[in-house]
Amino acid sequence: MVQNVKLSLKYSTIEEKEIMGYAEKVAQIHDELHEKSNDPKEFLGWLNLPKDYDKEELEKIKKAAQKIRSDSEILLVIGIGGSYLGARAVIEALTNTFYNYLPQEQRKTPQILYVGNNLNPDYVNDLINLIGNRDLSINVISKSGTTTEPAIAFRIFRELLENKYGLKEAQKRIYVTTDAKKGALKQIADTENYTTFVIPDDVGGRYSVLTAVGLLPIATAGINIDELLEGAKFAQGKYLDKNLKYNDCYKYAVMRNILYKQDKNIEILVSYEPKLHYMIEWWKQLFGESEGKDGKGIYPTGAEFTTDLHSLGQYIQEGRRNLFETVLYIQETMSDITIRQDEDNLDELNYIAGKGLSYVNKKAMQGTIEAHLEGGVPNIVLSIEKLDAYNLGHLIYFFELACAVSGKILEVNPFNQPGVEKYKTNMFKLLGKPGYTAESKNEEKTVTTKTTKRKPKSQKNML
Ligand code: PA5
Repeated sequence: MVQNVKLSLKYSTIEEKEIMGYAEKVAQIHDELHEKSNDPKEFLGWLNLPKDYDKEELEKIKKAAQKIRSDSEILLVIGIGGSYLGARAVIEALTNTFYNYLPQEQRKTPQILYVGNNLNPDYVNDLINLIGNRDLSINVISKSGTTTEPAIAFRIFRELLENKYGLKEAQKRIYVTTDAKKGALKQIADTENYTTFVIPDDVGGRYSVLTAVGLLPIATAGINIDELLEGAKFAQGKYLDKNLKYNDCYKYAVMRNILYKQDKNIEILVSYEPKLHYMIEWWKQLFGESEGKDGKGIYPTGAEFTTDLHSLGQYIQEGRRNLFETVLYIQETMSDITIRQDEDNLDELNYIAGKGLSYVNKKAMQGTIEAHLEGGVPNIVLSIEKLDAYNLGHLIYFFELACAVSGKILEVNPFNQPGVEKYKTNMFKLLGKPGYTAESKNEEKTVTTKTTKRKPKSQKNML
């Protein structure tokens, strides 16, 4: 049987029979999710997405990616949270570690740069300098179409693009991924006649990587999005089995809840692959926003080993015992490098001469799992054969589904994020946004977009 994501209980301190105690509850959750999957109000569109993918939209994405590859040295992805993390996670996992640093001739596909995920002026100015005079396209992504960070970035970079190319050519280099009907971004896209991609109503931001949100930047980076979707499709079929005994995805969801009940309220997603840095970031957002509510939830965090064994390792080994780890184990690396015999052996490494670095990395992993378990930190191990588009598609679906089921076991709504509004309200008040200040309480909250035809403005005052 093909096991693209394999779960091991060996170091988890959890017995199979404890997991099976949740069988009935999980089967109920499974039925509930699948029964409601066609109701747009339930935000379950991601559940059947890999199988039901809109073929026309997929072709449109591929065509746009091809155009960007042919006329741009840079694709600027503007988005925050679920509107950029998934794309970045997949691109960084599946391309050369130094993709963005490679010369264009070697990379062959555009540099993918990100903005609109913070409000820092140095970041924006440094990015403007980095882009310089090179050919550029923009993919602005926002489901609500009103999020402040990407909105500001889009205003800045749209102007930059218009100054460089003129309105007409700039229009052909802007790709908008947003809601089908609502939001300021949709309004701008319609007025300016930009190429648009739709984020389905029933797919929330952090569950949207397998829509145009993720697929356009991913395809632009030269990654095979058909394979990514195939992997997710295989996972969709595989986890249709509601029998907990045979469903590793649901077992992972249950194991997290068992450990949470034992006061293990921090989960560290561990990887030995630097390329998975953003995969960890994506996972943190998925689980953090889905479960952290109503005073409940596991705090999701990440660690990259062996790097962090020299920083967080001490805490994990001997600090507060409220942690557990989930280790992402990639069985086969894409390449290897052999440690050579050295005559002098002054560094005393000859005992591993002839071994590959991947072998040493594996031993480091085994040693660490055992040490941490001994130190009172349970380890769940998720093995993946190799880092390719198919396996990653599977892993994405695995985590999305596990997150939904885990949230349901915890009895929270895994598809909303009411807490995110709080900082926005405070910020808007402090910035004097109409509708948020005492004086303007009764004013309209939404900012109306100016839809008159514009002329390119000078960019001189930007730096
Ligand atoms: O998962 C979510 O819904 C959020 O993280 C959003 O993706 C994030 O807040 C960005 O929102 P939007 O796409 O509306 O700009």
